[in-house]
Amino acid sequence: MEIIIQPDSRQASQIAARIVARLVREKPHAVLGMATGKTPLQLYRDLVLMHRESGLDFGGITSFNLDEYVGTPPAHPSSLHSYMWAHLFSHINMPRERINIPDGLTADIPAACRKYEQAVRSAGGIDVQILGIGTNGHIGYNEPSSSLSSRTRIKTLTEESRLDAAAAFGGEEGVPTHVITMGLGTIMESKMCLLLAFGKKKARAVALTVEGPVTAMVPGSILQMHPRAILVLDKDAASELKMADYYTWVHDHKPDWQKY
Ligand code: PGA
Repeated sequence: MEIIIQPDSRQASQIAARIVARLVREKPHAVLGMATGKTPLQLYRDLVLMHRESGLDFGGITSFNLDEYVGTPPAHPSSLHSYMWAHLFSHINMPRERINIPDGLTADIPAACRKYEQAVRSAGGIDVQILGIGTNGHIGYNEPSSSLSSRTRIKTLTEESRLDAAAAFGGEEGVPTHVITMGLGTIMESKMCLLLAFGKKKARAVALTVEGPVTAMVPGSILQMHPRAILVLDKDAASELKMADYYTWVHDHKPDWQKY
């Protein structure tokens, strides 16, 4: 794993934006895996700015989102569809037909999940999967105890995740109980995983993900098995890492050709 620790979330997001932008420039038909939540907001703002100010071209890019709430219409203000259009898709030139988000209203969830997996494969697989992490260590909505080789499927949210999502739904009672989420096996097939985490609230999940054992109880820890997992953290999220000084030293002494 590559651990990049920055003084704040702004600078961390800028590094993540440079990694994504480089891929988009070098591979105009790249496939991006998208995440939602508070964490990637600055990254999306940076990408929108790069599109507006330096013509970063998303015209050939395909995207797949990690998840969507079951029973939540795309037009619902708290749906993950709405989030993506509000913060990214309305502001860049990614063609609508190349945007893929699980359908929370599908009548046949297992069939829709199989189709989603097939669509990822047909697109050539995900080049960079953007990830946040839950306070309980989830990535996507793969809650603790998720199979480490799970595929896109329905999951029941934990109480902790429902509390974390409560503000967006006007209280915990409004939060859906189920989601469709890419599985850990799906995420692990991405060519690169780019996980962002900011704030003290994430410090424990980050420490367990990076320095704890690989376990279904901390789904993010499966990234230890990924050949190209980059974690971009602010110093609060990195505050419980035992080897933080070493990760910082590594980053500060990268040869020029390895810099972002
Ligand atoms: P957050 O959510 O970015 O809103 O903290 C992250 C997650 O639950 O994966």
